[in-house]
Amino acid sequence: MIGGGQTALRKLRWLVRAGAQITVIAPKVDPQIQRMRDAGELVIERKEFYSEAIHPQLRLVISATDAPQVSEAVFVAAMKQGVLVNCVDRTELCTIIFPAIIDRFPILVAVSSMGQSPTLSRSVRGWIETRLPLKLGRLADLAGNLRMEVKQKLTSVDARKGFWDAVFESPAASKAMQGDLSGAVNEAQDMLSRVQETGEIVLVGAGPGDPDLITLRGLRAIQSADVLMYDKLVHPSLLEYARRDVELVDVGKQGPREEAGAKGWGSTQGSQATPRPTGTTMQQAINQRMVEEAQGGKKVVRLKGGDPFIFGRGGEELLEAAVHGFTVDVIPGITAGMAAASYAGVPLTHRHMSQSVRFLTGHRVADAQNLEWSEWARDDQTLVIYMGLVSLEKIQNRLLEAGREGATPAVLIENATLPEQREIYAPLAELHQAVITAEVSGPSIIIVGEVVGVPKQVENLLQAQADQ
Ligand SMILES: C[S@@+](CC[C@H](N)C(=O)[O-])C[C@H]1O[C@@H](n2cnc3c(N)ncnc32)[C@H](O)[C@@H]1O
Repeated sequence: MIGGGQTALRKLRWLVRAGAQITVIAPKVDPQIQRMRDAGELVIERKEFYSEAIHPQLRLVISATDAPQVSEAVFVAAMKQGVLVNCVDRTELCTIIFPAIIDRFPILVAVSSMGQSPTLSRSVRGWIETRLPLKLGRLADLAGNLRMEVKQKLTSVDARKGFWDAVFESPAASKAMQGDLSGAVNEAQDMLSRVQETGEIVLVGAGPGDPDLITLRGLRAIQSADVLMYDKLVHPSLLEYARRDVELVDVGKQGPREEAGAKGWGSTQGSQATPRPTGTTMQQAINQRMVEEAQGGKKVVRLKGGDPFIFGRGGEELLEAAVHGFTVDVIPGITAGMAAASYAGVPLTHRHMSQSVRFLTGHRVADAQNLEWSEWARDDQTLVIYMGLVSLEKIQNRLLEAGREGATPAVLIENATLPEQREIYAPLAELHQAVITAEVSGPSIIIVGEVVGVPKQVENLLQAQADQ
């Protein structure tokens, strides 16, 4: 500490309380600083500042003097030795700043204006001061006393949060703040004995790919998950929002073109991943795990690509949960078909071109007999086909046989909403060949209908204006 006046004194009180080893350098010091020295709390060098006083073993240098040239010299010396420095009221001479503090030990609230206006920080501190009960710190004592007990009884973070929220609003909190800690602990223990922990299952739509397309509710659910079971098409960056202690379970199913070499199935916390089940067995294994985790009191978030209820087996998981007595919270997501259309600039309906939209799955349907191909071939509607890549040739032929015009605009959108999104446009009769030529291999949505011509119309209009 360079300087020995009132400003230095205020900072010294905090530093002593934080347990710092302190040397004060000043020709004259305030009598209270002298008393701190007499109590062995700090050392005083009665000198003007000298640069050699700053050496690399110091953690922090504070200049609390009125002399501008002293602060400047302190700053230069500190920078040279790589020591953090704070020159009071000289923001430009600081590598560290001190916030205004509201002290309800062990609760501390810090207010900072990033050095722009310490006066404003102090005013804000005043506003907060009046709102925080003086004995707030005693609530922390109550929480500290019961922390382990609560953690043992309530395994889920949500359950613990709910419990503490209730305690802080209860008579136990008032008792603690009145100084009756043992009364407060008894009261809170009584509340704890009445808590029944039940698990939860939430189905969350992660959106089609671009992680920014998840909903705020979906994101909050990820943040609160004890167990996060996620699909193959979920963007990995969404997993980073989960808590550090979350159990991540990769339940990605294999697509039709992914055969051998499957990744391990199981939690990332386990060192030995068991072989990944496939198909129906995989879905049964997912259902079973989801229910078992919830029965163990965990909050299970089942994170699914797109929307959980569009070709996502969300319905099956919902029913399985109900069989075991769980009501499931379902958080919708943006389905791939809608997102692909938006990102490609294809309006799925249009007053003059398409009065309805059909979402179809191409998976296995091309071989099925009793499908309404003549209905699907009607020309006033848009078809959005999921999982249609493998059967594209059959789908295309069936639609043409059923009467859809070969010239109907069509597009396949691969990796929709991701940086590697590709669009392959072709008239319906030529789409399969165009897709083969383009060597498509990623997840794809096929859209068929007059509306697919809209992006080209937009491009032509803009081009015509640019040419004028
Ligand atoms: C099992 S379905 C899941 C659909 C998901 N529930 C939804 O609402 O989007 C998987 C299929 O969705 C489509 N799909 C998912 N993400 C896609 C993306 N980013 N781009 C194109 N198609 C996608 C593909 O047809 C993929 O085979």
